[in-house]
Parts: sequence; C-alpha cells; structure tokens
Amino acid sequence: MMATTPWEVLFDNWKRRIDTLVKEHPLQIISWEATRRCNLKCVHCGSPAEAVNHNEELTTDEIVGAFEQIANDFDMAGFRHINITGGEPFVRKDLLEVLKRINKWPFYRNIDIQTNGVILADHPELFSELKLYGVTGLGISIDGLENTHDDFRQMKGAFAKAYKAAHLGVKHGYVVTVSLVAHSKNVAEIPEFFQMVKDEIKPRVFRIMTIDPIGRVEHDSQYMLSSEQLRRVIEFLRTEYQQSCATYFDPSVTMVEMGCGGWMGKELEGMFRPMIFHCIAGINNLGILYDGKLGSCSNISRDFIEGDLRSDRIRDVWENRYQRYRNYEWKKTGECAECDQWNYCHGGPMHKRHYNGDMCDCLFNNYNENG
Ligand SMILES: C[S@@+](CC[C@H](N)C(=O)[O-])C[C@H]1O[C@@H](n2cnc3c(N)ncnc32)[C@H](O)[C@@H]1O
Ligand code: SF4
Ligand code: SF4
Repeated sequence: MMATTPWEVLFDNWKRRIDTLVKEHPLQIISWEATRRCNLKCVHCGSPAEAVNHNEELTTDEIVGAFEQIANDFDMAGFRHINITGGEPFVRKDLLEVLKRINKWPFYRNIDIQTNGVILADHPELFSELKLYGVTGLGISIDGLENTHDDFRQMKGAFAKAYKAAHLGVKHGYVVTVSLVAHSKNVAEIPEFFQMVKDEIKPRVFRIMTIDPIGRVEHDSQYMLSSEQLRRVIEFLRTEYQQSCATYFDPSVTMVEMGCGGWMGKELEGMFRPMIFHCIAGINNLGILYDGKLGSCSNISRDFIEGDLRSDRIRDVWENRYQRYRNYEWKKTGECAECDQWNYCHGGPMHKRHYNGDMCDCLFNNYNENG
C-alpha cells in the first residue's frame, strides 16, 4: 500500500534501510563479552557468572587474534565501534593489554566499555590509561538512589563507587552514559535520581533500559514493570527526551533516551530515543562471547550461538550462518503471530527469545495493556 502521510513515509524509508542492512549485513559493531566473571552479584543480571565455565575464557592472544582476523577478513570501511561488556570487563587483568595490542588498527579506536564502576572508582589511574588505547565512551550502571542501587547490586557502597566513576569519567572527557535499569522498585525515584545525575554528574547521556525477565530474574516477577509503571517510565522519557533535543548541540547537556527494550509503535518511536527501534543483533552487530562463541549481545540466550572462533573462521560464520538473526519468520508465533506491528517490529529483540521461539516479554503489548 502507498504511504500517505509524512510520518508513514518516514517509517517506510526507515524500513527500506533496515531491509538493505539485513541483506548486506555489514559488520559495523563488535560486542565483546570480555568475561563472565564479576565482582558483584546483582539481583537482575542477565549475563550471570554462574552456569558458565570460566576456564573457557579466551586468552589474551586468542582475543587479539580474533580482532586481527576480523581486520584482515572484513571490509572495515564502515566499521563503527567496539562495545565491551561482561560480566564486569575490568576484572579482566589483561584488558589494557588487549586494548593496547588492537590499537594499531585505526578502526578499533572507538571503544565503549559498559561497567558497574567499582574497579574504576578504586583505580582512577585507569581513566588516563584507557584514553591512550581508543576508549572514548564509558557506560556506567547506576540503578537509582543510593539504597535502591546498593540493594539491587547487592553491595553496600556500590552506589558511591559507580557515582564516583561516572564523575571521573566526565572529568576526564569521556562520553559518559549513566545507564539505569527501570524495575518495579525504582520507578518512583527515577525523576529525582535523574535530576541529581543531571546536576551533579552531567553525563552526555542518561539511558533507561527496562528490566528483562532473563538470567537471574527469568523466574522472578517481583521486579517486573506493570503496564502502569512502564507507561510512567515512557512518559518521563518522552518529556525529558524532547527537552534534551532542544539543547542537543550543547555537549554539556545530558541527553535522555531509552535503550533497546523493543519496538513501541509508530506513535512513540522516535519520541523518546534518537532512533526507531529494530534489533540489530547479527545484522550489523557481531558478538564475541567470553569463550569465543559467536553470537551477538551477551544477553542473548546461548541457544543462539552461530559458531566458535576457536574452530571457525569468523567471516565464514558471519556470511553463511546467522540466518535466525536475519530471517524473522520463525519468530511469528504466540503474540507475534497475529500482531499488526509485525511489519516494523519483526518479533522484537533477540535477547527476549528462547530457543524454542517463545518470547519472554513484549514491551509494546505491556505498554498498551490495562493494569
Ligand atoms: C550485563 S551488564 C555487564 C556490564 C557491567 N557489569 C554492568 O553492570 O554495567 C550490562 C548491562 O545490562 C544490564 N542488565 C543486566 N541484566 C539485565 C536485565 N535482566 N534486564 C535489563 N538490563 C539488564 C545491566 O544493568 C548493565 O547495564
Ligand atoms: S549486571 Fe553487571 S555488575 Fe551486575 S552481576 Fe551482571 S555483569 Fe555483574
Ligand atoms: S507481539 Fe511480536 S511483533 Fe508484535 S509488537 Fe510484540 S514483539 Fe513485536
């Protein structure tokens, strides 16, 4: 059917760009799960340390070798960035060494690290060192006011350390994102917390992710957002995002946005984050997991592993597998089967899928439900 309104045209153009991206699947982002070890034991962790064999972690030479192989085998002209996550990346003693060794390739000099901030706060010398090796962005998780954060992260003093790390990150000139996971016990304090962060830390981005029923909270509904709570979060985001857009060109202003919880419908997409959502896992985003398995973001079930860099050539896997990430028809089950959002959403983010195709949580439906 022909698009009729400018808004429809916008979405149709965007959809065409997604189709092209899927067809061409250029490697643009590498998500490296540096380790599954962690110095915290957060109640919600979607990538928990238990149930994995830490002895299988890639060695320094193996991970540097993987980055070298990618540099040799792929067209890196459109490469955008490396996102390092975990587990807690800073528990890897050789993190700086890895960064130093891959720094000789210029396209590996735009690196973000997602962290709980504890080790950074205790080792402030890291802020100068990371800069030498291409780290430009720091994502620091802070999930609410002091007591809420410390309870959620199960460590007294975790808030103070994360707060300090975020402060120091801004002071040292990094693009700092303060990331908050919105859950049933912190929704009420988000506005107050945001005000504090905006006034005192002044990060470039304040990002809210909605809690997913995965990992340690897969079977624990007490932290999940009700529809009413989700609507409050979105309303907050909508108001603050639009205000922050008005001052976008001032780098001292904190931009507000939502992370990748899922498609929210044409009325909302583009209104509370600087993008229209589509899951990019396995499309332009390659994941190297802690043990060399090839997937995408570390929160995606290990049922969706496509290869192993210890035995496969990464480019072969990227070109010839990843069909489950690029052809979505298999996701058309359950709520998605009859959904009128399908043509844009294509079944939501991969990290919400189980191996049998079931989906654990649809943000769009939750938002639109009563209750
Ligand atoms: C797995 S952590 C790894 C990096 C680092 N250890 C940290 O906590 O920031 C990456 C991000 O995923 C978020 N996360 C973990 N479990 C989640 C869940 N069940 N739902 C939504 N976000 C989650 C964390 O809060 C953090 O911001
Ligand atoms: S969310 Fe991050 S800090 Fe918390 S247990 Fe998971 S990996 Fe560790
Ligand atoms: S039901 Fe499926 S297709 Fe519809 S909005 Fe939810 S995840 Fe997307």
